[in-house]
Amino acid sequence: MEYVQSTDLKPSCIDWPVHMQRALDLAETVLTASPNPRVGCVLVRGGQVISEGWHSAAGAPHAEAMALEEAGPKARNAIAFVSLEPCAHHGKTGPCSEALIAAGVATVVIPMQDPHPAVSGKGIAQLEEAGVEVIMMVDFEEAARGINPGFLSRVERGRPRVRIKLAMSLDGRTALSNGGSKWITDVASRKDVQLLRASSCAVLTGVGTILADNPSLTVRLDEMGLDADQIKTNALNLQNPPLRVVLDSTLRTPAQSKLLEAEGNVLIYSTASAQSAELVALDSCTLKVAGSDARVQLLPVLKSLASEYYCNDTLIEAGPTLCGAFLRANLVDELILYVAPKLMGSDGKALLDLHGIQTMADTPTFEVIEAQQLERDVKLRLLPQV
Ligand SMILES: NC(=O)c1ccc[n+]([C@@H]2O[C@H](COP(=O)([O-])OP(=O)(O)OC[C@H]3O[C@@H](n4cnc5c(N)ncnc54)[C@H](OP(=O)(O)O)[C@@H]3O)[C@@H](O)[C@H]2O)c1
Repeated sequence: MEYVQSTDLKPSCIDWPVHMQRALDLAETVLTASPNPRVGCVLVRGGQVISEGWHSAAGAPHAEAMALEEAGPKARNAIAFVSLEPCAHHGKTGPCSEALIAAGVATVVIPMQDPHPAVSGKGIAQLEEAGVEVIMMVDFEEAARGINPGFLSRVERGRPRVRIKLAMSLDGRTALSNGGSKWITDVASRKDVQLLRASSCAVLTGVGTILADNPSLTVRLDEMGLDADQIKTNALNLQNPPLRVVLDSTLRTPAQSKLLEAEGNVLIYSTASAQSAELVALDSCTLKVAGSDARVQLLPVLKSLASEYYCNDTLIEAGPTLCGAFLRANLVDELILYVAPKLMGSDGKALLDLHGIQTMADTPTFEVIEAQQLERDVKLRLLPQV
């Protein structure tokens, strides 16, 4: 296999970086393809794009299959730009390496190998054994990894990507002293949160938020602001909403909570000694034990979500106690803050439960990767600096 920079590729009449970028953009048209990665594919012949494809959901055709189907016999001798190494195994659909070989594609250009053990180099090997040229466009690797951070986290680290979402006032408060927090932010921010939920495999909270706010944590299509095309592209995913998860050491979640009354499954992690006949009796609720301590342990929860539920992305929508605990345990990959231009006062609840920071050198620090105005609020995306 050749490892090359896109600018070194020949012939120069083919716009190599443009086609690869298009494959990446197609992958991103879906909110999630969980538990699969998001993948896009562009078929080019004689310098012209002949077809495009993307993977819209688990069980739906893969990006390569969709593009090959559209191209038909024109795929012979084409160049396939695919945003991830083609799969080589029989899952819900057939292997893409075989489909590309059967269609007579001459060259496959990819930006990265698929780290999933069922693929990892096998797709490349099958293509090369059949005489298909495989080119690795190295300068697109980082962008390609950025499309599937959750999938890569599950496959490479054995745990989902963890994003914490919090709404706060200008003075960093997330609830009033009496627990009230509806609504800190405006409609535009809440719409954005619906998109975050729909792009996650699990929405996780603590029992403190269940008792204070009684949220349903569902995805509400009518609040998401998607246009007709986006709804069509994401139709399969939207039928498969994220798992709702509660960390509740002693099973205090009321059986009559909105979370359990709403449609869909709820997973409650508790400690081994916790008991609740009411919760056990509910069909919509699965009880799991995480760790052996007096309190639910966070890493075992994440490992369970990855290994038992194939969860790529977990969105935490909890209060300061649980969000602080995840941050202290270094288990947060991204913090998403919706900042409302209002003051909630110094007796309101803090953003995160963090105590005992004595020196500036010990202050957790973040890199701001996005700052966006959403009507009156500001959305910040931050990466913890380790
Ligand atoms: N502004 C926002 O974005 C936002 C979002 C959500 C909530 N809130 C507000 O936050 C307030 C609730 O805050 P909260 O801190 O009580 O709720 P929380 O963080 O959602 O839940 C805390 C509870 O989680 C349980 N838990 C289980 N395992 C844990 C672990 N390993 N580490 C830490 N906690 C663990 C603990 O109870 P057990 O030990 O009994 O299991 C703990 O009391 C409400 O007023 C709500 O309105 C605001």
